[in-house]
Amino acid sequence: MSALHQEFVPKPYTNSVESGSVAWKSPSNIALVKYWGKHGQQLPKNTSISFTLDHCATSTRLEFQSKQDQGFDITVLLDGKAQPDFVPKIEKFFTIAMPYLPFLEDYSFTVHTSNSFPHSSGIASSASGMSALALCLLDLEAQLNGNGLSEEGFKKKASFLARLGSGSAARSIDGGLVVWGEHQEIAGSSDLFAVPYPEAVHEVFHDFCDTVLLVDTGEKIVSSTVGHGLMHGHPFAEQRFDQANNNMQAIKPILASGDLDAFITLVESEALSLHAMMLTSSPYFILMKPATLAIINKIWSFRKETGIPACFTLDAGANVHLLYPAQHKQQVRDLIENELKAHCKEGAFIHDQVGQGALRL
Ligand code: DP6
Repeated sequence: MSALHQEFVPKPYTNSVESGSVAWKSPSNIALVKYWGKHGQQLPKNTSISFTLDHCATSTRLEFQSKQDQGFDITVLLDGKAQPDFVPKIEKFFTIAMPYLPFLEDYSFTVHTSNSFPHSSGIASSASGMSALALCLLDLEAQLNGNGLSEEGFKKKASFLARLGSGSAARSIDGGLVVWGEHQEIAGSSDLFAVPYPEAVHEVFHDFCDTVLLVDTGEKIVSSTVGHGLMHGHPFAEQRFDQANNNMQAIKPILASGDLDAFITLVESEALSLHAMMLTSSPYFILMKPATLAIINKIWSFRKETGIPACFTLDAGANVHLLYPAQHKQQVRDLIENELKAHCKEGAFIHDQVGQGALRL
């Protein structure tokens, strides 16, 4: 049994609510220092930091109707179409969230959800999806609980709950730069929930751009959850966790000064280290595709030729996130149109940038 975190266990509810609906839009995020490896009940093996995105988001409307019988009753619709495949993951989430949301068995839930990007394409749809669902459930709790939570308390519990659904989802509540995982040098950081990055951030990062180049929009051959599992007994696991925690330390002066050369080195190294863990797992697997490498090489050539500080990062998938300062938008977008688009599946990409965090609809 995992320890109960009393801070997030609600007081007995004071109101009764028969039925209704709540809705949230929650963004995806892109990690600069990656979370890869977990333990216990969704606790990270190292600290991670991400940019919250703006355009890549999930909108979820949760309908609820009170019921008498025991057990969970969940229906999920993606773009209006029933998705029974999604239910087991949500049931698993409900099971571990029960102590913190004790009303979960008291309602029949219908989750109406839609993404602004292809599902399971490596754009962390679990991050935006689970955070949107956590926010909806917490909104329902606010209706049940006359006392309510402060705005800060609400966000903290939302991140805590989102984490129970999917680790990276913890980082999708707040906007800007968000940190998850306790780190000695980052005040307020916690393994239980993510917090806004509390240190100085140079203005170049306030509106940083991320174009997601969609190399592969199908289902991944190995899910993140399975990939995390392969870090248990991985020959390089401890070195990887140390590397990530050291990179968290190293990124602080970079974010403060806007040193883009150092930023690029750290971010690209993190992405390749993440994939190196996959290449050296047992069993090993490769999520990059030939087009992933072709794009990376073109980004490197472009940077060398133009001096424009554009770089890449990768999630657990084949897609490439092209990161660049807003002031170079035009040149980078020309590169995408003229050279990179050809490597994308059906020429697809999504222009995005740092966003403000989740929004009640
Ligand atoms: C590669 O959060 O999708 O995107 O906790 O099992 O749901 P679960 O995994 P998930 O892992 C994402 C890992 C990553 C890196 C990151 O976002 O930090």
